[in-house]
Amino acid sequence: MSERELIREALRMREKSYVPYSGFAVGAGLLTKDGKVYGGCNIENAAYTPTNCAERTAFFKAVSEGEREFSAIAIAGGRAGEAPSDYCAPCGVCRQVMAEFCDADSFQVILAKSEDEYKVYTLRELFPFGFGPENLME
Ligand code: THU
Repeated sequence: MSERELIREALRMREKSYVPYSGFAVGAGLLTKDGKVYGGCNIENAAYTPTNCAERTAFFKAVSEGEREFSAIAIAGGRAGEAPSDYCAPCGVCRQVMAEFCDADSFQVILAKSEDEYKVYTLRELFPFGFGPENLME
């Protein structure tokens, strides 16, 4: 699975976003270590706080199907109905969810404007010194 293919999934998932309040559509493509891809979109709510980000939608879909090991996520976001004009970085809550399941030094976070224009970070770069499962182990 190439970075381009994972970005294509994120861009495809943007079209599924439910964003009547922000008008900001985000899509994510999450790659498991054994090569499966789970897509996610953001899903908003009239009460606002129940809103789920695209990244967490992808993680929760995957984990609920039994997946536990991930190698990368591609994220694309911007005004609904338009191509992304900027990079969309994951929010702090989504970074925390990534930290629960992913190795900080090897998990790759791909921020994409298009299949050709993207940046790649490790989770460690985006979420240094986080609180994770290892903090609760003796
Ligand atoms: N959002 C995401 O889905 N992922 C991000 O990385 C940033 C923010 C969503 C939440 C909300 O539906 C909209 O974008 C505006 O914040």
